[in-house]
Order: sequence, then structure tokens, then C-alpha cells
Amino acid sequence: MKRGELLTRTTKANGTLHQMGLKHRTDKCDEYHVHLRESYLDIYEKYFEELRGSPINFLELGIKRGCSLRLWKEYFPEASIHGVDVNPNCQFDDDRIHTHQASQDDSEFLLNLSETVGGFDIILDDASHINSLTIKSFDILYDKCLRNNGVYIMEDLGNSYVDLSKHAGYWDGELLYNQSMGVDLSHKREDMDNLFSSLIKRLDTQDSEIRSVQFWSRIAIILKGESRPQYKIPSLW
Ligand SMILES: C[S@@+](CC[C@H](N)C(=O)[O-])C[C@H]1O[C@@H](n2cnc3c(N)ncnc32)[C@H](O)[C@@H]1O
Repeated sequence: MKRGELLTRTTKANGTLHQMGLKHRTDKCDEYHVHLRESYLDIYEKYFEELRGSPINFLELGIKRGCSLRLWKEYFPEASIHGVDVNPNCQFDDDRIHTHQASQDDSEFLLNLSETVGGFDIILDDASHINSLTIKSFDILYDKCLRNNGVYIMEDLGNSYVDLSKHAGYWDGELLYNQSMGVDLSHKREDMDNLFSSLIKRLDTQDSEIRSVQFWSRIAIILKGESRPQYKIPSLW
């Protein structure tokens, strides 16, 4: 099947998030980000639709050329869009897009940003795809920076199975950059599985505001609930 055919078949009516993604040329809807005829954006729209007209704060880790930031700006006409990237060239500020240079594990920066804007409704991690950094970002952001009823997305989890130390040259220099900052690239999927198990346990033991933990192809989506639970069931675990 040719790329164009696949995209046509996975595209819904005009005006969908997927359709806008094609216009803004984000890879979140190209042939590498489709599974069973659903693109990442088809999946995200199931979560984003109800927030569309609201003045939400959207944070994306990983900016690159700014394609996805411009997509979020168009899809959410009332939203403030924040992007964070280690690369100082990723600056695309305008009236509603705010770009920041920082690493995704810079807790001081992320906590300050969140406090300044009053928290985020959607947080999407499309940055390094290095397990230790993905986990650090989640640890920094989920509890303290994601608002009630918020959506936390980890993208491109296919990478979490790969020993990145063997692929550093292939990865556009991003891996080498992170390695030069002392990040161990020989990561293991088990690191992510341990995180997911702990989240599922927090969900099952009502020990947090986690509303659900959902998996799609290469995507994990963790929804936050309304407020902290009033009680905790007896500690049987
Ligand atoms: C896949 S690209 C982002 C693409 C963008 N979200 C889009 O859909 O158009 C990944 C970006 O993550 C950035 N990155 C790599 N390591 C990072 C880190 N430790 N902290 C923040 N950003 C990082 C890279 O510089 C790169 O621009």
C-alpha cells in the first residue's frame, strides 16, 4: 500500500485533528504513526474533543520544527500552547505559542513554568523517548502540574524496547546530545513496565487521582480524575 492511500483511508472528514495534522505536516499522522488505520491523532482526538473550546493549557515536551505546536494552536482556538525542548533553535513563539529551552527532566524549570501558568490540562511527552527521561518527566509533572481531569500522554513507546546506545548515530544527534548530558542510553523496557505497574497499582488501590491508564499502539495515556479520593481501602497489598 502506498503512503497516500493509507493516509486517505485513515483520514476522517475535513476538520478532524488528523486532517489538521496533515496540513501542519506533523509526523503524528504519517504512515509510521498509524496502527489498524488509526493515526496517533485519531486516537488523541477521542480525548481532546471535549476540551476543544476551553481555554486550556497544553504542554508538549519536544518541539523540533514546531509542527505539532501549530496543530494544537489551530485545534484548540482558546488554548495556551507551551513547548519545551533542549534545542535552543526550537523557538516558535507567537500570540498563543510559548516555547522554552530546557531539558525534559529539569524539575525546577518545569515546576516553575507550571506554577506560573496555573498547571496544564494536557501534557504530551514527545521529547527524547529515553525511558529514564520519560519517567522523570512523568514523576515531575503528573502529580504537581497536571490539573484535575487532565490528560497525560507518552508517545512513541516503541522506542522503549530499543537499546538506544546501539542506535545513537541514527537518531538525528538527539541521543548523542542526551548522552553528553550523562543520560544512560542502554535503557530497558522493564523500566517503563515498572512505572506502568506502579500506576496500575495506584489505580487499583485508590491511592491517587489516577482515573485510568490506557494503552494504544506505542502510546500510553494516563487520565487524572476530579479530586483526591476521600478514603483509601485497607492496605491488603
Ligand atoms: C520527535 S521530536 C518532537 C516533534 C514535535 N513534537 C512534533 O510532533 O512536531 C523530539 C524533540 O525532542 C527534543 N529533545 C531531545 N531530548 C530532549 C530532552 N532531554 N529534553 C527536551 N527535549 C528533548 C529534540 O531536540 C527534538 O526536537
